[in-house]
Amino acid sequence: MVERRADIAPATGKLGVLLVGLGAVSTTFVAGVEAIKRDISKPIGSLTQMGTIRLGKRTDNRVPLIRDFVPLAGLDDLVFGAWDIFEDNAYDAAMNAGVLEKDLLNQVSEQLSSLQPMKAVFDPRYVKRLDGKNVKTGKNKMDLAEQLIAEISKFKTDNDCDRLVMVWAASTEIYLESSEIHNSIEAFEKALYDDAEDIAPSMVYAYAAIKAGVPFANGAPNLTVDVPALRELSEKEGVPICGKDFKTGQTLMKTILAPGLKSRMLGLKGWYSTNILGNRDGEVLDDPENFKTKEESKLSVLEHILQPDVYPDLYKGFSHVVRINYYPPRGDNKEGWDNIDIVGWLGYPMQIKIDFLCRDSILAAPLVLDLALFMDLAQRAGLKGIQEWLSFYFKAPQTAPGLYPEHDIFIQLKKLKNTLRYMKGEELITHLGVEYYDEGDSASG
Ligand SMILES: NC(=O)c1ccc[n+]([C@@H]2O[C@H](COP(=O)([O-])OP(=O)(O)OC[C@H]3O[C@@H](n4cnc5c(N)ncnc54)[C@H](O)[C@@H]3O)[C@@H](O)[C@H]2O)c1
Repeated sequence: MVERRADIAPATGKLGVLLVGLGAVSTTFVAGVEAIKRDISKPIGSLTQMGTIRLGKRTDNRVPLIRDFVPLAGLDDLVFGAWDIFEDNAYDAAMNAGVLEKDLLNQVSEQLSSLQPMKAVFDPRYVKRLDGKNVKTGKNKMDLAEQLIAEISKFKTDNDCDRLVMVWAASTEIYLESSEIHNSIEAFEKALYDDAEDIAPSMVYAYAAIKAGVPFANGAPNLTVDVPALRELSEKEGVPICGKDFKTGQTLMKTILAPGLKSRMLGLKGWYSTNILGNRDGEVLDDPENFKTKEESKLSVLEHILQPDVYPDLYKGFSHVVRINYYPPRGDNKEGWDNIDIVGWLGYPMQIKIDFLCRDSILAAPLVLDLALFMDLAQRAGLKGIQEWLSFYFKAPQTAPGLYPEHDIFIQLKKLKNTLRYMKGEELITHLGVEYYDEGDSASG
């Protein structure tokens, strides 16, 4: 039997979900939660709401819903806050994003209209195609962080929240690499005072969240919280962090398919992926500097799953190309094509074609919900720093230094569920299963 890790504090009172960016993903998430609360829709795509977890042996017949197994905040206890560079409230922003039908939005219009974004920390040098007026001014980046910290505290009091979480669902920033100023808390704080260029606005939010004791999840591929200084700070302050980049659409498909091909020892010569996308995210990603951040996050997936170094005969030198093209008529309804050149017995080539007519924000919204609830759970369970068990939700999961990320979605799901079992002191499930055949063995297979 594994030991109970720690007592999990109950999910009493309200949980404030602070959203950075009130665009397509955030408004689809908030409107969705409001619609689900009113029984207008079902929480499809959300593991916390619909998923179950097996406990004990296959013969035990203990399969509760995840939300009945671990104490999660209920949807009725969620309160939303947001920052955006545009002044539009969530109703106008949702109409503008064009993801959900007007009819649905009108049924939850009161809740959406009352969600008015706070002034953003923003600099157009980091998001080339955007500019807005709802932006904070300050002496330097530390001053902006302090303004955010004060706002976070005011939000908590004004909304009578017991706890808060923050999710970055704002535009993808330009590509940044970790540098000297990201290496320690001291260097990072000095850089905030010095207005250093290597500190992107997303890092100012992440710093403010951690300092305020608020778990931070990064839904975009920006570097943000994936630097030594913020990792160290999150451990010091006892705050959970995770990222990067919600795993939806094409990358979701990749991490479902690639493990399957590899499990049968089928080879790969090339995987060509292209997308057309017409929402604001697509417009931002049309800029090469912003696209580079996304490309890095999308490209690493196959290398890690297929392990060409371990299986050179199957995967050495495969070609992997990812393109995103901004095409306004499609709006949020992205179309992603994949051409996969695989190799079978005796080297015979085969092809797989995928045409995924997906809806980006419909796939991302339940991820925001799950991350908010699980990050809050993590904090109540006394977990801090990187939450690798939430890799399931990300294209480029954040891991401890020197540790390669697990991209295989099935391994990620096992890891997530075993972490929940571990939190509650339940037997981990190994899938070995000898106990059903050999008497006296007690593992859970
Ligand atoms: N939808 C998906 O499937 C998906 C998947 C993975 C990642 N993402 C990422 O999630 C993010 C949100 O996607 P979206 O479709 O909602 O985009 P969006 O353009 O509709 O919304 C982003 C919002 O962020 C605001 N913003 C930009 N910089 C800001 C800042 N510094 N502070 C506050 N607000 C800021 C913008 O004004 C905009 O309203 C993007 O970075 C996107 O790449 C989305």
